[in-house]
Amino acid sequence: VVTMKAAMEYPLKFGPDLQEDIDKWVQWVGDEAEKRLAEFFPSLPGETVQNYLWAHTVVCPNCQSVVPLSPNWWLSKTSNYAGKGKERKVTSDWYAVKPIPNPEQKRVDFELIKGKKGKPTTIITDTGEEYDPDTTTTIGRGVGKCPNCGNVIDDEVIKSQAQTGNFGHKLYAVAYKKGKGSLEFRIPESIDFDGIDKAENYIKNKKLDFDWNRLLPSEERFDGYSDRCIAYGLNKNSDYFNPRQLLTLVTYVEIINEAKVLMQAEYEWEKVEAIITYLALVLDRCVDVNCRLAHVNTMGPKIEGASGQHALNLIWNYPEVNGSSRLWLWCAEKSISDYIKLCELFGTKPHSTGLPGIEKYDPKTIQINSASADSLYHITDNSVDAIITDPPYYATIQYAELSDFFYVWQKRTLGDIFPDLFFNELTDKDREAVANPSRFRNMGENPEKLANQDYEAKMALAFGEYYRVLRPDGVMTVQFNHKESGAWDVLAKSLIDAGFEITASWAVSTENPQNLHQAQKNSVSSTVLLVCRKRDPNASQAWWDDLRTELTEALIGKTIKRSDGKYYPLPTQKKSQEDEEYISKLEWLEENGIEGINLYLSAFGPALNVFSRYQTILDSSGEEVRPEKAFQETRKAIANYRFRKLVETDTSGFDPLTQWYLLAWDAFGAREFPFDEARQLALAVGGFNVSDLVKTSKLIDSASGTCKLLTPQQRLKKRAFSVNPSEFSLTYLVDGLHAIIAIYEEEGVTPVRRFMEVTGLVSNDLFMRTIEVALKVIPCIKDEKKCLIEQKVLLDLWLAMDEIKGKVKIYDQLELQLGQLSLNFE
Ligand SMILES: C[S@@+](CC[C@H](N)C(=O)[O-])C[C@H]1O[C@@H](n2cnc3c(N)ncnc32)[C@H](O)[C@@H]1O
Repeated sequence: VVTMKAAMEYPLKFGPDLQEDIDKWVQWVGDEAEKRLAEFFPSLPGETVQNYLWAHTVVCPNCQSVVPLSPNWWLSKTSNYAGKGKERKVTSDWYAVKPIPNPEQKRVDFELIKGKKGKPTTIITDTGEEYDPDTTTTIGRGVGKCPNCGNVIDDEVIKSQAQTGNFGHKLYAVAYKKGKGSLEFRIPESIDFDGIDKAENYIKNKKLDFDWNRLLPSEERFDGYSDRCIAYGLNKNSDYFNPRQLLTLVTYVEIINEAKVLMQAEYEWEKVEAIITYLALVLDRCVDVNCRLAHVNTMGPKIEGASGQHALNLIWNYPEVNGSSRLWLWCAEKSISDYIKLCELFGTKPHSTGLPGIEKYDPKTIQINSASADSLYHITDNSVDAIITDPPYYATIQYAELSDFFYVWQKRTLGDIFPDLFFNELTDKDREAVANPSRFRNMGENPEKLANQDYEAKMALAFGEYYRVLRPDGVMTVQFNHKESGAWDVLAKSLIDAGFEITASWAVSTENPQNLHQAQKNSVSSTVLLVCRKRDPNASQAWWDDLRTELTEALIGKTIKRSDGKYYPLPTQKKSQEDEEYISKLEWLEENGIEGINLYLSAFGPALNVFSRYQTILDSSGEEVRPEKAFQETRKAIANYRFRKLVETDTSGFDPLTQWYLLAWDAFGAREFPFDEARQLALAVGGFNVSDLVKTSKLIDSASGTCKLLTPQQRLKKRAFSVNPSEFSLTYLVDGLHAIIAIYEEEGVTPVRRFMEVTGLVSNDLFMRTIEVALKVIPCIKDEKKCLIEQKVLLDLWLAMDEIKGKVKIYDQLELQLGQLSLNFE
């Protein structure tokens, strides 16, 4: 709710003018922080310390040395190149520290290593010394190593010391700047330790200060599913921070609360509420990056906050940002300067508020409420026009557990402003609609199973509430991150049971565009929007056998495309203008740029529409049919449709494995994709078992939920086929395809020609068609290094062999690429 207020309510209520007030108070808090905290963050003359690098420490049980734990000793790996070719200059240094054993003092010291980039993982110093900071590590996979005596320190020892309060911290490097210069590093000096001592003493003196203690987030932590810290003795929320980090953050809270009082003399309360909310969000960022759960990404170097992961992980070596001069303003710059951009998104202009064009709606009437989706008690029946929901997905993210990290701080700045949101000690895990096994420990049954059931029941309740509050003509969209087919079934079933009819689905690719053309991996990370409406309450029951044809027809049956771009089902509408044409829904989706796996996902909507129009659907034996069947039928229809389209003529004669292989490239456009998808596609094509793909035909390798299409060479090595003409059998066309690719790679064109002649492939039309389709579906990548071998070889063969050229058509995109190739040759 706080985030939504900041992202929507306030920009609409106060418009861009508020940015000035926010900036003013951000600066005020920053100035105050500097005054109050400067003594704890001293710098050497001429330098300004930016960050401190800390390592957690344990005592070696063998030699009693204090051992700083770190999985690597890198500080920075940035190289700035200027100029071109040989002229280019490296203008930045690489930095690391080297642990120096000091057994006499029972400690480990450090030496700074600075130099140029060596081989990928080394630094070369000015004296030519080569150092690899990954070789002097003191912890790996939870097991420590003492540099003084070489003793291995087991995970159990580390945990038990941590739990009994013997986990220490050692400062091992300081990052600073001189003027506007670039970031440099040094080994800590006494001035740095003085600052730390001062902070620790200050906190000790505050032990009995009631006001101070109220600001400390000392709530006991929830021992949750995403927690990896309690095992290391971090039992309270304040334990996420070292003493000086805590001092910094508590001081910020103190200052924000003072600002709240001062602001009231200047502004109406609503504005105070807004500005304090933004200050609280800056504080969240400070908490995120200035804790024992943050880490430094040495490429940059930049700090990555605790929230970068979906779990609470203690980081062995963590950063502390200078709390007096840098942390607050740096975090503010990264978040609050975006307020004005939010206003731009809404179109709110200076000196005005609300949405342009609908000014008559007073932005002050916007309400953002907090309630659990399973009990929308404040909303009356049949009253809501639209519901937009993005529900959690089983155990993927434990929102409430992770939110506690920020909740305890927000409570201390926003608790009096939004008492309803912060009256609980911690966030409410019991009402949360996620599968959280930690709530079901020691209950006799498998906690995961109970948690899943609890999640499904809560989702069903939430959809029931949505149904109750939605107007009869209202619309609901459900955002769903496609994971695996089973999840679709559960989601669709609970929507149908709640009384909804699913009328459309839209797949939106959420893959990072940079990864899109790598053709290595398709993680099927599409987000699907399901559009739902209330089903006719008098809907009848239907028989699956009748629906099956209706369902396929809904996808491939021709519809009229009107000149207005809409489409209407046949035969109710007639062509009214000459330029109108008949197309199917699948064709329509493709025309709208939906392709590959997104075509399958987007087609689930029309299929579910047929399915969800009925109250119940029964098979011939009277058993209830689940939505899963509709999805299977849809996949089958699309696989058929796509294959027909790819082959362009009769598809008979193509063996199922070859169909599967070509359709897999067509759908995923990548070598790697989820195994569950491979299985679903195998079911859709039919005629073989998914395990055949791995065991018999060796078309794929599968491991931990994903699978990879093997290259022709890999398959040959596994003896999936033979390149000896007398042993070769063309049971599967894909084997012929892979055989010629493998032969070409090893020996060139002539042996391919011979092989094709002896095996009769040269006069096999189906085989030529297979080459043609393969060239169409295997992605062509311009970058030579990333180019897929199958595509490259087939193109080479097409260019070199008239036998293939004469029978295999090449398509626009490939022609273009060939054109570029020949230009390059010239
Ligand atoms: C997938 S996330 C939504 C993310 C959101 N679209 C965004 O961009 O921030 C699911 C959200 O549902 C919330 N949630 C979990 N249980 C809930 C419940 N019982 N009632 C309302 N919301 C709940 C979680 O806290 C989480 O914020």
